[in-house]
Amino acid sequence: MTASAQEQGYTVAILGATGLVGSHLIHILEERKFPVKKLKPLASKRTAGSTVTFNGQEIIVEEATPEAFEGVDIVLASAGGSVSQALVPEAVKRGCVVIDNTSCFRLTEGVPLVVAGVNDADIQHHNGIIANPNCSTAQLMPVFKALDDAFGLERVIVSTYQSVSGAGKEGMDELMDTTRSIFKLMGQPQEGASQHEAKVFVRPIAFNLVAQIDQFVEGGVEDGYTKEETKVIHESRKILHRPDLKVTATAIRVPVLVGHSESATLEFKKPVSPQEAMDVLENTPDVVVARKPQDFPTPVEATGKDPVYVGRIRRDTSNPEHGLNMWIVADNLRIGAALNAVRLAEVLVKNNWLKKGAAQQEPAQV
Ligand SMILES: NC(=O)c1ccc[n+]([C@@H]2O[C@H](COP(=O)([O-])OP(=O)(O)OC[C@H]3O[C@@H](n4cnc5c(N)ncnc54)[C@H](OP(=O)(O)O)[C@@H]3O)[C@@H](O)[C@H]2O)c1
Repeated sequence: MTASAQEQGYTVAILGATGLVGSHLIHILEERKFPVKKLKPLASKRTAGSTVTFNGQEIIVEEATPEAFEGVDIVLASAGGSVSQALVPEAVKRGCVVIDNTSCFRLTEGVPLVVAGVNDADIQHHNGIIANPNCSTAQLMPVFKALDDAFGLERVIVSTYQSVSGAGKEGMDELMDTTRSIFKLMGQPQEGASQHEAKVFVRPIAFNLVAQIDQFVEGGVEDGYTKEETKVIHESRKILHRPDLKVTATAIRVPVLVGHSESATLEFKKPVSPQEAMDVLENTPDVVVARKPQDFPTPVEATGKDPVYVGRIRRDTSNPEHGLNMWIVADNLRIGAALNAVRLAEVLVKNNWLKKGAAQQEPAQV
């Protein structure tokens, strides 16, 4: 791609433009002044004909069909796994490069799975598809990568506290609606969260915690894990290029609107103190460290912000020389989806990596 192509801008399609991630994608493209020549919002038949606003202009949402990708340079896809399965190959066939937010291609051989600033160079080997990791994996990666480089990561135990926005706009609506109806019913005999039907989540989410995100795995060593938990395991290994990394996870849905929080216990090859880890993380781009325990981050404070916040860094008392505990918080809609996707698009165009294979000779500018 020539400098003039970059100046003219690109035709960018947003697949899932009416969704939570889609609306953040549009906003972040504006915010970061990504060179968009033409924006093409795509969604299902249901919302085709509605409009989205981009740089002050109303743009009509089109139905996502294979033909809709004609003439598009970059597709930012967030319409769910089955839609990506059907339409991403169609877009690639028409010469588009697709940055896919769904889980569809993340572990596919030959598809780079990338967190901006962590493994950007992997993008150059794309064959038309670049995958964005799961939101709970994405925010861990800048922290784990920096600490792995410094002290040699051996084992990770993660517990997630994931907001309802991770389940899209219907997830946010379910939390708000069930919370409101519990308040309305207070004082009446049928009060209580158990009275409320759960549709998006498998149990009532208001004033509750749900220890299941996605389906349960059956059989093998991962028997009894949820797919969400296995995503953290396999995606972390792929992004960090550490197939040997010992990772285990428990994923919990919490009644928080936006922002995922994660408790992580890390074990290192080299001895490490909390102060040494804080020093490393303070020099890591995109990471903000709270040195004092009382300055711990919260999802509400992280909402709408770009960094990954880390606090409560302390020794693991069961492994005080080589182990640390920490609390990692970020805006899942930005770090875990839309911001990362736009940053990957920026890496693509900055390095002239848009054309498949064209970039292989170029040194990375990351
Ligand atoms: N939320 C997060 O934190 C997060 C993070 C990482 C990845 N993701 C992934 O991103 C995807 C979307 O998430 P979301 O939170 O934005 O969900 P969402 O708010 O429910 O939005 C879904 C979007 O997909 C569109 N869509 C649904 N069926 C379609 C079809 N058959 N053809 C074309 N478009 C269709 C919807 O269009 P209509 O309005 O027309 O129905 C809507 O624009 C999911 O795969 C999710 O796993 C989400």
